[in-house]
Amino acid sequence: MAKKSFYITTPIYYANDRPHIGHAYTTILADVINRYHLLLGYETFFLTGTDEHGQKVEQAARQRGVTPQQQVDEFHVRFKELWERLNIRYDRFIRTTDEDHKAYVQKSLQELYDRGEIYLKEYAGWYSVGEERFFSEGELVDGKDPVSGKPVEWIAEKNYFFKMSQYRDRLIEHIQKNADFIQPEFRKNEVLGFLRQPLHDLCISRPISRLSWGIPLPFDTEFVTYVWFDALLNYESGVLGKQFSNGRPAWPADYHVIGKDILTTHAVYWPTMLMGLDRELPRHILAHGWWLNRGEKQSKSKGNAVNPLDYVERHGVDSVRYFLVRDMVLGQDASFTDELFTNRVNAELANDLGNAINRISKFTWAHYEGLLPEPGDPGEPEQELKQLANATLARVQSQVQVLNLSTALEEIASLVRGVNRYVEHRAPWKLAKDPAQKDAMGSVLYHGAEALRVALSLLWPVMPEKCRQGLAMLGRSGEPGLQDLIWGSLRGGEQLAPAVALFPRIDVTVREDGAKQDAVFPLDLRVSQIKSVSEHPEAESLYVLTVDTGGESRTICAGLKNTYTATDLEGRNVVVVANLKPAKLRGIISQGMVLAADGPDDRAILIDPGSIRVGVTLQAGDRVARPKAKASTKDLEALKPEVRRGRVESAFGPLHSGQVFVTCDAPDGAAVH
Ligand code: ME8
Ligand code: MG
Repeated sequence: MAKKSFYITTPIYYANDRPHIGHAYTTILADVINRYHLLLGYETFFLTGTDEHGQKVEQAARQRGVTPQQQVDEFHVRFKELWERLNIRYDRFIRTTDEDHKAYVQKSLQELYDRGEIYLKEYAGWYSVGEERFFSEGELVDGKDPVSGKPVEWIAEKNYFFKMSQYRDRLIEHIQKNADFIQPEFRKNEVLGFLRQPLHDLCISRPISRLSWGIPLPFDTEFVTYVWFDALLNYESGVLGKQFSNGRPAWPADYHVIGKDILTTHAVYWPTMLMGLDRELPRHILAHGWWLNRGEKQSKSKGNAVNPLDYVERHGVDSVRYFLVRDMVLGQDASFTDELFTNRVNAELANDLGNAINRISKFTWAHYEGLLPEPGDPGEPEQELKQLANATLARVQSQVQVLNLSTALEEIASLVRGVNRYVEHRAPWKLAKDPAQKDAMGSVLYHGAEALRVALSLLWPVMPEKCRQGLAMLGRSGEPGLQDLIWGSLRGGEQLAPAVALFPRIDVTVREDGAKQDAVFPLDLRVSQIKSVSEHPEAESLYVLTVDTGGESRTICAGLKNTYTATDLEGRNVVVVANLKPAKLRGIISQGMVLAADGPDDRAILIDPGSIRVGVTLQAGDRVARPKAKASTKDLEALKPEVRRGRVESAFGPLHSGQVFVTCDAPDGAAVH
């Protein structure tokens, strides 16, 4: 059967300045959508590039004392380099200075002219160089460019016009008949609102006396074409003659992915131009929101843009890709702050996904020399895990169809949490102790690995490199494809790649005042589970606990007898200071300390980690742990933990896992130690 085909584009970005987070986002989003189609078995074409003509570029060149050609030759490379760094798999990088593009623009202009769609007239209006377009009096906000807030200039000159106005009704009809032509829906309504007013004709030229850096009109060389007329045609010129192997020509595009700032040019100018040329319209236009920085649009003209390369440098490409796709709900604006980034990455990648893969892989190396064990007979927990994975496969595919990528990632994150729950419940560290349970332990490792393989295959479009590595750690090499989107494709006996830490925790944050600080503290406050309880042979007030700190068993002495019986404690999750210097307590070495608060009548009340997983190391406020080898009780005193309104507050803020706060039933003000 012939493959299905898919053609997707990004805007072509102005080559006047360096790329920033907004450009990176659109391009990553398009790359992710494109890769999801590859994963689902489509043959795809992905076009991106740079917009190199026009006043904006000409001005930037003049300011730097170079020619416009030198300017664009130098600056388009920055986009190419960034795309390489961000692992963008495009099929063509188009530049509007490419010869084939210029020839196609001229051909299209001539065609329109010959059809009587273009005329010359005197015109006056407010021009914004920032957006490279005229605005009418009514569109201005406080007399300024409504998009960037920058001043506009009054320009009166003779120019060529495209008879856009006559396509208004046809465009309205097209938008209404094709409900998903403009996405999301509220953007469609915005365009329909705009079209309720009369539509003007579109000025498509600039006299060379004002602008020489452009493509000359073939029928009047005193003029160059308007930068948007030139730019929009890239979507067609970029795939001229391109045919998919199923016979379909690439044009019309399946998706134009753009930001909301250029919705009118794409949803009004472009379709009417195509109508004037009697060509097919693109199938879908997807307009996303803006990345904001403290409520303002991130932009190079405002100078407040986060530099994506800083984040890529510090935390890796795939964490950045994950955060951007995870934290922007389609169409809405979203905030990029250091804190949001850190929390998301630590919670879902470092804690959940990273730990899950690590556990399975470490255990398999420890007990099976890195060869995946056989699945054995699946029991009820295994059946449940399989059901969860299958449900996730189905839900993610349907969310991807409607491009709800942040929801798709949420689904995958919840599968990963399900794997962790499964592993905790089946506790392979327990099974490891009993030789008769070897097959059961193998089965847990197999099923955990298989469920993670499903999760990583579904995450591959978002984090291609990390998922490739993660899949290799589970015994699967190469890129995932359609055949991987079913349960049960791992085989016992497969060789796992060596375990590496895929997602290290982030421990640097930026304070409110913008200064960078090392926001860490030296304690490893680890969620642990009490496995068994016995009496201390020498000390009446102490229990001797065996505690699982996440794949590792320890002996800890604890003075909890006033409050808890042995049965109360067995199986209970607690918080342990896991890097405390071991201490001998009446002949028994205690490897750590269980945290509890001073309750009434000398009773110790345990800190409750709630739903936080065993093995997770807690954060304090926005500080993360960078545990020293041997912490002392002084380090704990410095943290000043105490109970306030049911939570455990410290000098740096409440103790939490990145998602869940720890709690304690002790009264307000109770000290914790
Ligand atoms: O408009 N948040 O190029 P441009 C999210 N050359 N996305 C953002 C963003 C932000 N804060 N800032 C920019 C042009 N973008 C024209 C396009 S297409 C035929 C010609 C992204 O360099 C978003 O995709 O100003 C926006 O539409 C695009 O960059 C504008 O890039
Ligand atoms: Mg712009």
